[in-house]
Amino acid sequence: MAVLVVLLVLVLTKPGFSQSNDGDNVMIGMYCGRNTLISLPNFIKNRNSTFNELRMQLLSKGVPYARAQALSAGDSVYSAVQCRNYLSVDQCVACFDAGVSKLANCISGNGGFISFDNCSIRYEDYADFYNDPYVMEDVNRTPNVLCGNQSSSQPTVFNQVVDGFLSDIRDATPKTSNLYVASTRQITGENATVYVTAQCAGSINQAICQTCMNTAYDKLNDCLPNTEGRFFHMGCFARYSDTPFFNVNQTTDITNFIKRHSSNVTIIAAVVAGVVLILLFLLSWLLYRSWKKSKMTEQDFEGAEHYNYKDLQLATNNFSEENILGRGGFGEVFKAVLDDTNVVAVKKLLIHHDGAKEEFENEIKLISNIHHRNLLRLLGWSIEGSYLLLVLEYMPNGSLDRFLWGAKRGTLNWNQRYEIVFGIARGLAHLHDEFHIKIVHRDIKSSNILLSDDFKPKIADFGLARFQPEDQSHVSTKFAGTLGYTAPEYAVHGVLSEKVDTYSFGIVILEIISGKRSTEVKSHSQSTDYLLENTWKLYEKKMHVKVIDDTLSLNRYEQEHVMKIIEIALLCTQSPASIRPTMSEVVLMLQEGQSLGKRQLTRPTFVNNQDRRVYIGTQVHNRVDVRKKGMNIA
Ligand SMILES: *[C@@H]1O[C@H](CO)[C@@H](O)[C@H](O)[C@H]1NC(C)=O
Ligand SMILES: *[C@@H]1O[C@H](CO)[C@@H](O)[C@H](O)[C@H]1NC(C)=O
Ligand SMILES: *[C@@H]1O[C@H](CO)[C@@H](O)[C@H](O)[C@H]1NC(C)=O
Ligand SMILES: *[C@@H]1O[C@H](CO)[C@@H](O)[C@H](O)[C@H]1NC(C)=O
Ligand SMILES: *[C@@H]1O[C@H](CO)[C@@H](O)[C@H](O)[C@H]1NC(C)=O
Repeated sequence: MAVLVVLLVLVLTKPGFSQSNDGDNVMIGMYCGRNTLISLPNFIKNRNSTFNELRMQLLSKGVPYARAQALSAGDSVYSAVQCRNYLSVDQCVACFDAGVSKLANCISGNGGFISFDNCSIRYEDYADFYNDPYVMEDVNRTPNVLCGNQSSSQPTVFNQVVDGFLSDIRDATPKTSNLYVASTRQITGENATVYVTAQCAGSINQAICQTCMNTAYDKLNDCLPNTEGRFFHMGCFARYSDTPFFNVNQTTDITNFIKRHSSNVTIIAAVVAGVVLILLFLLSWLLYRSWKKSKMTEQDFEGAEHYNYKDLQLATNNFSEENILGRGGFGEVFKAVLDDTNVVAVKKLLIHHDGAKEEFENEIKLISNIHHRNLLRLLGWSIEGSYLLLVLEYMPNGSLDRFLWGAKRGTLNWNQRYEIVFGIARGLAHLHDEFHIKIVHRDIKSSNILLSDDFKPKIADFGLARFQPEDQSHVSTKFAGTLGYTAPEYAVHGVLSEKVDTYSFGIVILEIISGKRSTEVKSHSQSTDYLLENTWKLYEKKMHVKVIDDTLSLNRYEQEHVMKIIEIALLCTQSPASIRPTMSEVVLMLQEGQSLGKRQLTRPTFVNNQDRRVYIGTQVHNRVDVRKKGMNIA
């Protein structure tokens, strides 16, 4: 019994990770994704096909790094493999095969990665990790470190030499053209040599590589005076050992990338230079302080960069009319080109309150830490006068409404529409349940959903609800603008919970299926029913197939699928809010393609635009009692 408990503790303290010695190729870490998928069999099929493609590339091109993607049937897989550059093609492929057979154990999630001494493999259902390996979504993937179990016989000198060596490797690796080094150094006065290699993932940028190498240095330093250490994180791999693991003729030259070690002759010069440097540093620090006083906002937040207002002005052609991408409830959005190459979107908001600036910064900190493929990424920000500027990912396809009733009407097929529904659900579930703070979007609507190149949805404007000017939040024009989407308990009583988003999501589903605005009335009939009301009436008569967009041609199977999704939409719009599903429940329902089962739908509550009254059950509430208080983030 006691043994069992001990074993359990051992297993539980290292969740998801294990290590094993696979011949001469130690496994440093392995992880399986936990996010849900549309269809697991499709995903596995795509994963296998990317693995075949990767193997072919390694063999035929003899490269140490390869990527492959398979996008069929909606469950896209993006993969990458990276071998240490000192290996032969055969050794590389042998490691790849070992990794693939281990990764076959990842059978339920949306991705996986594994790292050995000789190679690392990663696959995900999104491509973002190619450039930013730290795009994480579901868990906190901590760095993996394996220290050897043998201490050096000369710990003092070993520590000193290896520490200096590792710090040189840390500085040099990001500066090399292929973000890779392999190097050796003699232990002073000893008949021993230390071998070190380091490699950043794929072709990530220098800054991300540097961040990862900083962590690698810290962690490997903790292994000293052990004679071996291995480090792996999403962004890089590093290893040191006093046992050779590559040939001496395979080292890379790092002398140009490290600070030179001063000899006796240069010491005086160095001291003089040092004093000058310190003086310069003091001077610039003083300058910086006085400059900072006038520009209080010069703080860097993890993930989001601070931009100069002038740069953004230049990048948007002085916020010219031609650069306007859209106008939303929060302000105008401009297309901007940074450094002549990077296309981004810049959102310009007007601040009304004195307190808003600080609030804004706190909010930026929060938002910039949210990474999810279905949430629009915040890249940076700037404050100037009464303007707040947000630098956001640019989505060339624009917003979803364009594809439903706008210029691109009728161009999305059912598969694409379903993926959009599913993606929005996942993004909202992340905001509600997976991020450490619950964030209620409050303004989910088709014009807030942006589409990527491959028509994957990204939710915009999350976390911004608090910047909405108070006097516009619910009454008059603003309210009418998003009227068709707002949950009645929020519209009428100002009661806010995450179920407010569930309601709006239900409305967006109906728009995606019908290709109609939520507030559009049938033009050729006398009815003044809005989309939700109309859908409910058809559903009661079991005729909700009539809701489906005329431009969609569906086979029988697809039609049944659409009917189920309509029912889910109706479930999302039920009142009271407590009987609506959470977004995580919605994700599961969508994924498993369940029908409602025993759940009985009742007539949804809706807000009628024309006479501005809310129908809750059979009661009619006048909108006089709209309240604005009590709407903080839940
Ligand atoms: C995928 O590959 C694994 C291991 O190579 C194999 O067991 C499985 O049958 C393959 N699945 C499909 C759908 O091809
Ligand atoms: C050190 O680890 C190796 C395997 O990595 C093992 O074979 C050896 O017995 C260990 N030595 C000690 C002293 O624990
Ligand atoms: C250094 O060690 C190697 C083997 O570890 C041995 O062959 C060699 O003779 C040694 N050299 C000296 C100078 O001790
Ligand atoms: C891993 O690489 C080492 C060279 O560093 C090589 O000797 C070994 O055979 C490789 N292991 C496998 C399983 O390919
Ligand atoms: C490196 O050295 C090994 C043996 O020490 C030799 O087999 C190999 O050909 C050498 N490679 C190069 C590129 O010189």
